[in-house]
Amino acid sequence: MPQPKAFVTRIVPEKGLEMVRQFCDAEVWESDLVVPRDVLLEKVRDIEGLYCLLTDKVDVELLDAASKLKVVSNMAVGFDNIDIPECTRRGIPVGNPPGVLTDTTADFSFALMMAAARRIVEGADYVRAGTWKTWGPTLLMGQDIHHATLGIVGFGRIGKGMAQRASGCGMKVLFFDTMPVDLEEARSVYRAEPADLDTLLRESDFVSLHVPLMKETYHMISTRELKLMKKTAILINTSRGPAVDPKALYEALKSGEIAYAALDVTEPEPIPLDDPLLTLPNCLIVPHIASASVVTRTKMATMAAENLIAGLKGERLPNCANPEVYEKM
Ligand code: DGY
Repeated sequence: MPQPKAFVTRIVPEKGLEMVRQFCDAEVWESDLVVPRDVLLEKVRDIEGLYCLLTDKVDVELLDAASKLKVVSNMAVGFDNIDIPECTRRGIPVGNPPGVLTDTTADFSFALMMAAARRIVEGADYVRAGTWKTWGPTLLMGQDIHHATLGIVGFGRIGKGMAQRASGCGMKVLFFDTMPVDLEEARSVYRAEPADLDTLLRESDFVSLHVPLMKETYHMISTRELKLMKKTAILINTSRGPAVDPKALYEALKSGEIAYAALDVTEPEPIPLDDPLLTLPNCLIVPHIASASVVTRTKMATMAAENLIAGLKGERLPNCANPEVYEKM
């Protein structure tokens, strides 16, 4: 029997590729860069399975081009790159790898917070620049994490992971979410207290974002919200770049409305080298690597392979982002 055709849009950890190659007649985009759009539209013409990344837009245009498509498998837990309602309408299940990157991403969010608060990157630059002459009583003084207040915006899996780490460090934790949260669990397991967004922004020394990108969260942190924050506050974003309005952030950092921002994600990605945020000494930007541990990225790649293969076999995806698709079948 001929194997089903699939296209993998980037080189992903080998274990995932191996699984796909064993089951499919797979073409892999052998590059570290995004498949150009026109090439992608051509590549999907004949395939049944698409193994893609958050950098690939799966929209009506692509779905129209991929008339044989049976399954889309995203190697990212966030799926704002995919038109989910349209996939559902066409009966195409979409897979993602939830859960596996929770702790790795929470570790990284915490690390960004620590790096920002204790000026670790500035310290390393200072040493490399040959500026370190002696122990300095006022050298690179930063902010304490312990006993400070952390405001977590988005209290899903990763937000809770951040709360766990923070309460272990003696921080006071506030959280805001528009989805219902089990308050008993929030208090007893995560030592976190609910707050409305404005109160959280006013009272927190650190604000960490853990929201999915949706129209409700697009630029949810903008001029008004940044003005509510303490002048000493540090903003951490490991969710999606567009959750923060970058122009408003630039103004707030420049004018001292807030003290510092540590961003794993930007709008757009990659951030252009002439973006004004890159001129600021109080803005730390890293290239969307919060889930990038060897173990986690390998697991994400294999979970994405499992979803792809299940979809190609006509089985229910082990992790499906649009389970409502099965109601139509
Ligand atoms: C995701 O999975 O959505 C992250 O942003 C990349 O790991």
